[in-house]
Amino acid sequence: MKPPSPPTDPSGTAKLKPLAILDSLHSAVLVIDAEGKIHFANSAAGNILQREPSVIQGKEVGEVFLAFPFIQQLLEKDKGEDPEELALILPGNRKVYLGIRVSRLPVSGEEDWITLSFDDISEILELRKERDRLLELATVGAVMPTILHELKNPLAAITTSVEVLLEDIEDEELKNQLYLVFTEVRRMKLAFEGIGISGRTLRTNSPSAIDYAIKEAIGIFQVRAQEAGIDLEVQVPNLPLLDLDPSVIRAVIYNLVTNAIHACSRGNRIRVEAGIEGKQFWIGVEDDGEGMEPKVKEKCLEMFFTTKSSGSGIGLALCSNSFRNAGGDIQVESSPGKGTKILLSLPIPPKETEIQTVQPRQSLQQESKNG
Ligand SMILES: Nc1ncnc2c1ncn2[C@@H]1O[C@H](COP(=O)(O)OP(=O)(O)OP(=O)(O)O)[C@@H](O)[C@H]1O
Ligand SMILES: [Mg+2]
Repeated sequence: MKPPSPPTDPSGTAKLKPLAILDSLHSAVLVIDAEGKIHFANSAAGNILQREPSVIQGKEVGEVFLAFPFIQQLLEKDKGEDPEELALILPGNRKVYLGIRVSRLPVSGEEDWITLSFDDISEILELRKERDRLLELATVGAVMPTILHELKNPLAAITTSVEVLLEDIEDEELKNQLYLVFTEVRRMKLAFEGIGISGRTLRTNSPSAIDYAIKEAIGIFQVRAQEAGIDLEVQVPNLPLLDLDPSVIRAVIYNLVTNAIHACSRGNRIRVEAGIEGKQFWIGVEDDGEGMEPKVKEKCLEMFFTTKSSGSGIGLALCSNSFRNAGGDIQVESSPGKGTKILLSLPIPPKETEIQTVQPRQSLQQESKNG
């Protein structure tokens, strides 16, 4: 009997088609000849360049991708180290960042052709940018308490001096100017409180006039709102004393009103309200400014999330953390073009809510009737 013939292709590689292999890659591949004409584009190249590979093939590389002389320069530079990072504007004005590698492809009897492989690294670059921003913020965060501490005392001294001068000076013009200085100094103090809130807790053991703290903080914003043509309205009834830290409340107001002012233009309105309902203390800041896109609304409470070029993304996160850590809650209602409402609520121990329902005069009358 004839023995079975040995397999000619033990690894099975004969079944594999080179083009199918290239098409299965996540990285884009282009092959161009020595004149810069594209002879092959795999599926990933088609995806990134947003054209069918069959349309790309046969075109000059400069028409769909990069100028040929530039690719030749890259070829000279590519020493097999990190890929070259480039920004490219694609059809529809879409900007992508690509990591590109270029290598020679020897073709028998002809000048070397060129293989380009590239990946869309936009997301990686975004993440890298975000990482660098967070590192910068962490550095600022580490030195911030010291800076705030150093600034607090001189600021208090300036405030006191200006207060004394305001009382002594008779010249009305000078008094008005000085009053502006006074407002700005108080705003600076409030801004420091706004970012210095992170180490403080909302609940305390000593009762404070929270209604006064809210009105005081709003008062500091009035000049700025007026100048910007924004109507800043405050509706806060007299509240009982609450075991809450007024500086945290001022910081919350600072952050919410600053956001609202940023979102508003001339003619817009901001309304700040607060009160006690049932066993809940609540603060609401509502504006009819630009509002938030759903994606922004979803992320706005996250620490370091910002849509502003100079924002840190900590304001809302600090407000939300201080209320949630104390057992309270935050609700965000917002729609683009209509405005935003931020509502903070906090359960108040019965003792504190009771004070509000029993008015001092009533209880005195009660006592005299009884007595
Ligand atoms: N009233 C608002 N109207 C529209 N968008 C808002 C409003 N408040 C917050 N946002 C959105 O939520 C994001 C996060 O707000 P947050 O206060 O946490 O950070 P920030 O204002 O960007 O920076 P920071 O407060 O640290 O200076 C803002 O960048 C903005 O996109
Ligand atoms: Mg903010």
